[in-house]
Amino acid sequence: MAKTGDGESLGTAEGAVLGRASHTLHAENPVLRDTWAIELLGNATRALARDPENDAKVRAASGIDFRLILAVGMGALRYAEDEVERCVDGGIDQYVVLGAGFDTFALRRDDLADRLRVFEVDFPDVQALKRRRIEAAGRAPAQIPTFVPVDFESTKVSDALPSAGFDPTRRSVWSWMNTIPYVSVEATEATLADVRTLMTPGSRLCLNYQGKVRLTPAQADYLGRIGMTTREGGEPWVSSWLPERFEEVVAERGFDLVEHATEADLNERYYAGRADGLFAGVPSRLVTLEAAG
Ligand SMILES: C[S@@+](CC[C@H](N)C(=O)[O-])C[C@H]1O[C@@H](n2cnc3c(N)ncnc32)[C@H](O)[C@@H]1O
Repeated sequence: MAKTGDGESLGTAEGAVLGRASHTLHAENPVLRDTWAIELLGNATRALARDPENDAKVRAASGIDFRLILAVGMGALRYAEDEVERCVDGGIDQYVVLGAGFDTFALRRDDLADRLRVFEVDFPDVQALKRRRIEAAGRAPAQIPTFVPVDFESTKVSDALPSAGFDPTRRSVWSWMNTIPYVSVEATEATLADVRTLMTPGSRLCLNYQGKVRLTPAQADYLGRIGMTTREGGEPWVSSWLPERFEEVVAERGFDLVEHATEADLNERYYAGRADGLFAGVPSRLVTLEAAG
């Protein structure tokens, strides 16, 4: 079950939003200007985000530079956001965020609120905490997403999304970012097949996954340490994929591959020439898919 950020350990949803809050507050030129991230934090975590030295303190205490993986996760959200913007320009008006956690797209994009309805899929306890934090924020979000509680391991998105107001006969855009490593191979395959039934041809899905790729010793050591922290926090990584196998899986489930990108593409698109040296330092695969006709 998901951690919700209550108690001693941050859940992955809150950990990710803490990184984005801190980046938005302190980076010179944020890759993702996440102006709502700070609102979704608890009091203690908000104080951490406001401290410009927090990253350095965490690095000193843990010996882990979380910025390398933060840049992968944040870059993935920016990658999805760019695709969503293209889809809205093309007339799509429904966006489903799978494993949304504390994603803030719906809350902060005033410019799209009247053109795009956002649905968020995650565990009910994560959604309940997020709802409480939105209510406590003291400012009005651009829109409150429609929360659709689903456990990918045991429930189907298609059982819940249409009754929440999603129209499967109209085109839609979807993202599933920074979540697949926490979902079993079986549930990932089943969810891809299931959501495809809700995607009329021309609909798009962006996602990222952990590739089974050759690692340098430094990368293997780094990923081993991060994997241990997520496991100790109760949210272990349970799946990784050979990129060729992932392409077969999506093709078998009725998707055309639009793009299969890597962390190098993220670095070229979003992190080139940054004064703070931030870069996506962990192998990652990002995919854009289109529901085939
Ligand atoms: C690392 S967080 C990423 C959240 C958000 N997409 C982001 O990038 O900030 C992973 C999210 O996946 C959700 N998640 C993990 N396993 C899940 C499952 N079996 N069913 C539904 N949600 C799940 C977690 O609750 C969490 O919100």
